Amino acid sequence: MTPPLKKDLAGKPPRRSRSRSRSRSSQWSRGKSPPRESRDKQAAKEVEKKDGQDGPGTRGTPRVKAPDDLPVAAYKEKIIDLLLEHPIIVVVGETGSGKTTQIPQYLLDSEKFHCLFENKRGLRVAITQPRRVAAVAMARRVSDERGTRLGDVVGYSIRFEDNSSASTRLRYMTDGCLLRECLGDPDLANYDVVILDEAHERSLHTDVLFALMKRAVSNRAGQLRMLVTSATLDTGAFSEYFACPVLEVPGRSFSVALHYHPVSRTQRVEAAVNVALNLHVREGPGHILVFLTGMEECEQAVSFANSKLQNMVDSGKQVSDCLIVPLYGMMQSDDQRNVFEEVPDGCRKLVFSTNIAETSLTVAGVGYVVDCGYCKQKNFNPKTGMESLQVTEVSQVQAKQRAGRAGRTQHGKCFRLYSEETFSRSLPKVTVPEILRSNLASVTLQMKAMGIEDVVRFDFMEPPDRVRLVKSLRLLFLIGALDADGGLTDLGRRMSQLPLEPQYGRVLLAAAEAGCVSEALTLVSMLSSEGVWYRPSKQNAEQWEEALAVQERFLHRMGDHLTLVRVFTMWEDEGCSPEWCKANFLHFRALRQARDIRGQLCDQLEKVSEASVRDAVRAVRNRYRDHRDRDRGRGAPKNGSSVEQALLQSLCSGFFMQTARMCGAGGGWLIVGENVLVKCEGGSAMDGSCAEWVLYTDLVGSTVANCMMRTVSAVAHEWLQPLLPKLVEVDLKRLVGVTQPRQNEQVEEPKDPAQVAKDREVKVGSARE
Ligand code: CDP
Ligand code: MG
Repeated sequence: MTPPLKKDLAGKPPRRSRSRSRSRSSQWSRGKSPPRESRDKQAAKEVEKKDGQDGPGTRGTPRVKAPDDLPVAAYKEKIIDLLLEHPIIVVVGETGSGKTTQIPQYLLDSEKFHCLFENKRGLRVAITQPRRVAAVAMARRVSDERGTRLGDVVGYSIRFEDNSSASTRLRYMTDGCLLRECLGDPDLANYDVVILDEAHERSLHTDVLFALMKRAVSNRAGQLRMLVTSATLDTGAFSEYFACPVLEVPGRSFSVALHYHPVSRTQRVEAAVNVALNLHVREGPGHILVFLTGMEECEQAVSFANSKLQNMVDSGKQVSDCLIVPLYGMMQSDDQRNVFEEVPDGCRKLVFSTNIAETSLTVAGVGYVVDCGYCKQKNFNPKTGMESLQVTEVSQVQAKQRAGRAGRTQHGKCFRLYSEETFSRSLPKVTVPEILRSNLASVTLQMKAMGIEDVVRFDFMEPPDRVRLVKSLRLLFLIGALDADGGLTDLGRRMSQLPLEPQYGRVLLAAAEAGCVSEALTLVSMLSSEGVWYRPSKQNAEQWEEALAVQERFLHRMGDHLTLVRVFTMWEDEGCSPEWCKANFLHFRALRQARDIRGQLCDQLEKVSEASVRDAVRAVRNRYRDHRDRDRGRGAPKNGSSVEQALLQSLCSGFFMQTARMCGAGGGWLIVGENVLVKCEGGSAMDGSCAEWVLYTDLVGSTVANCMMRTVSAVAHEWLQPLLPKLVEVDLKRLVGVTQPRQNEQVEEPKDPAQVAKDREVKVGSARE
């Protein structure tokens, strides 16, 4: 199952490494520009002049300048004119051509464009990004270019973090955030222009927004404009769907020499580090960008690279300066800045990144790319009805994008850690859009909450297969968000207002009734902030063993969920101390993040709770606030075990369809309603347990045969008994509410993702010919 919030979270601060002398490392890291805080203050003063309410946007003294020769610059007037004429346009231009940072500013600064809108509050533009990290980075960059304070004229909104204000004109936001805004305001009256950026990524939320925006633009004829931007030329689908003009911005790029250097899948991190360090030692100027799959790999690579570089220096080798940094989604925004900041002449950046640097973020001055050939992708397993994050081969389009990063400012080189044959024979041509491979429960619920009754026949640009949609409706029925006729229930409405996957929303609402809301909030927040467990490198066997032994002490006999609650509670009892985290091999930042999320979730839960439980939620919030200020020694909750039971029981309300029953001694558990045998992942508190019934909130593995439960707890059969019959009671026809299937409508089993990729390739291929 998906985590309650999008994962990929948290992590450690990036390290700056100097190969010659570590002691001097801070000289250039502080070097050129004043510290951020003072820059922001300075900017704030400039902004205090106050924004003219209906004229073009304010500018202060820029802290950075956009490159002079950005390809979009030549098309500024053309873009404005097109958008004056047409309600929807598509702009295509290579990554780095200035679409994200410049186009919104062109609109904001254009008198001509302002005249179009009659409102007095000034032009408001929303720019969506599929990734949080990009929304933050872009807002920061643009406010730097305008010399304004972040959160003022230019701001951002991402889940659990809103850095914008009433004077914000350019709001960078995740597509999920805009989708949520559509809930309360389907016509997006708050905005005059919406830019759906990075459309080529075809993220789930962007795909749904395509349809919602199309509707909103037609409802607000003349008063809402939309711009879709994409980095790849394959925009036939967009222009056909929106029936709108497409503007192509030709980019400049240099040649990139491709080198194939196949390595085994298990050695990709080490191989990538070796190739990158070789490049560093041998090659001329140009930063090195290495693509790996996820946060763990990037962190691991940073630490490998640091120690290898140190060894070289220790053995007397002459190595030039190098700044080694990771880059992945949901990195703390302060840390991201290291990646983009300039380095002194003669110093090279070595960036270990996930696919985030493929198109959404541009690291300037890259001359060399190392591509491991894989990425993490969300995939929905139709057999188990579960979604999991899997390491998957990249598509050819992605591989080309990655290589292209090396040729933006100079002739470049790209090292692919796979063979040329793998590229042409094994990699799929294009990436399958997320909507065709993910769990649709959350968007289906949101659509229902927006009054879209027939989600199965909704006007999607590329409709997900019907069976998958029906599965999401079924899940929503099971957790009580929909009634038997597919209508939204009151419970469902409240779940839709929580920024959580519906199943977790259900758990919180159940917990509020059951008197364990504080623990449930803790649990959901902990699940939302990835990686509390710090695992030292296995090469350091002694530390590795020690970490395991220390962490084992936290394990709760009832499972991983209560273990997480215990870790958080103990940390709070220790005054939220970073030292305590260190001593216990826990990530302080993950805990701190959980605490922040918890506070915000609590506020949101209070808003959607029924009057009868609202007081209880408010009490939790107040206690939490008091606690932050002074209370350092709260003991274990009274009647601890009954609270724990109540929490597990509440978990059942949202996840009873994700339970499994022990099958023979030690033979694993059989998932309810499925013929699938699963085990617990090593390290789980339930590993080796013989609990009769278990509940899992996460399933990992790429095939049905190697599925493993992650985050598992023991549950009592009596809690499940009243719920399980629902699994067989569902009347799908009634739920879908469609009396007659359309002609050719399929009602077969959902396809697995590999099949979807193949089918789609055939379709896309033949469409192009
Ligand atoms: O959206 P698109 O990929 O077309 O380009 P962009 O993100 O607007 O970036 C335009 C240019 O701004 C890049 O080519 C970089 O030179 C520069 N840039 C930067 O140096 N640092 C950033 N954080 C963002 C952009
Ligand atoms: Mg962009």
